[in-house]
Order: sequence, then structure tokens, then C-alpha cells
Amino acid sequence: MNKIAIMGAMEEEIQPLLKHFSKVNTIEYANNKFYEVSYEGLDVVIAYSKIGKVFASLTASTLIEKFSCDTLLFSGVAGAINPKLKIGDLILATKLCQYDLDITDFGHPYGFVPGGKVFTPCDKKLLSLAKEVAKENKLEVSEGIIATGDQFVSSNEKKQFIQKTFNADALEMEGASVATVCDNLDVPFLILRSISDTANESGTFDFDEFLHSSAKTSADFMISILKKLKNLKA
Ligand code: ADE
Repeated sequence: MNKIAIMGAMEEEIQPLLKHFSKVNTIEYANNKFYEVSYEGLDVVIAYSKIGKVFASLTASTLIEKFSCDTLLFSGVAGAINPKLKIGDLILATKLCQYDLDITDFGHPYGFVPGGKVFTPCDKKLLSLAKEVAKENKLEVSEGIIATGDQFVSSNEKKQFIQKTFNADALEMEGASVATVCDNLDVPFLILRSISDTANESGTFDFDEFLHSSAKTSADFMISILKKLKNLKA
């Protein structure tokens, strides 16, 4: 672990991370900004990709290939599918899938294309480290399946499809694409989300109301994870 990438999808998701750093070196590349910082000697690059799987794949690939990041952490918000998840709750992805990847007409399962996998698991060591950090900070953090697609979901019907097909607990618009990039480039990764809405008919309203607070909840926990990684390296 030499250089850590921390990604969000939206500016609102990385602002509460950047607030922790007074010295930031900004690099512009691929029509985006990458913020190089040092967390007590640990090299970190922070960026937000813009929303959706394509931009997230581009940013994850750039962080790995151009900035030589060898660990990738994602912090942001998600819509809840599992009714146990309430707004503001934290969830760590155990594995991720693309719910909108569909060549079922050719006899393949939802979320699958030849050469790929339906579910991409997060790094086990990072997951257990994150759970340890949660325990130390007396924070409640769930684990579960996160489903990703290029659509803001605000319908119970769509939610039910994703729940039934993938047994997913939460949904968002970037995680599985980041997971696929990291998995294929052999970079350990962790996807952390805090619930901003319940992906139903009041989804857009709740998202607007809770984006900032939930993004901060996720970012604050991510900083604790960073601290632990730094202590392990020291
Ligand atoms: N991210 C947060 N809430 C979401 C939703 N309802 N749909 C897609 N992405 C989200």
C-alpha cells in the first residue's frame, strides 16, 4: 500500500474529505481534477468522477494507471433497498453487481456478460479493517450487496426487481463499475455508502434533503479508515 485513491461520484461526496487537508495539490487530467494530499505521510489522491458508471470507470482507471494508486476507497451515498437500512446508515459492500447489464435474451443471467462476473467482491482485508474501525469508534455499519446502474431509482417496482434479482441491500450509480475496474487491474478496493434515500417515490426529495449529511457521515468514517491504514503502515 503506497498510494491510496479515495473516490466519490459527486463534489458533495468529496468536499467533506477535502476539508481535512490544508495542503492540496490539484492536477487536471481527463477533464477532471485530482487532489493530491498527504495524510500524516500517507499519499492520497482524492477525486470525484461525476455521476454514473462510465465516468466512475474512467476516474478509477485514471487513479490507478496515471496516479499509480494501489488501493481504492469509495465514499458516497446510496438508496436503501433493505428496509432495515435507514437514512444516514452506513453500508459496506461485500460484493457489487450491475443491475442494468442485460443480455438475458441470449440466455445469460442478469448482470452477466461473457468474461465478466455477476458479483465482484470487495477486498476481504479492507472489509475487515473497516469493520474493526467501526467497532473501535462504536459505529454501526452494515454489510451487504450493492447494486449499480445508470439510473436514479425512485420507484418501488424497480427496487423490487433489483432486490429479487440480486438480493441487493442498497443501490447507487458507480460502485460496481469501480469494482470491475479494480478487480481487473488487481487493485484492492472498498465501497462505503451512507443512505440518502430509500429509492422509492420520495427518493428525489429525500436525496436532495440528505445528500450533504449522509455524504459527510460516509466521509467521516472513511477518514477513520484512512487513519487506521496510516497507523498500519507506520
Ligand atoms: N444514490 C443515492 N440514492 C440513489 C438512488 N435512489 N438511485 C440511484 N443512485 C442513488
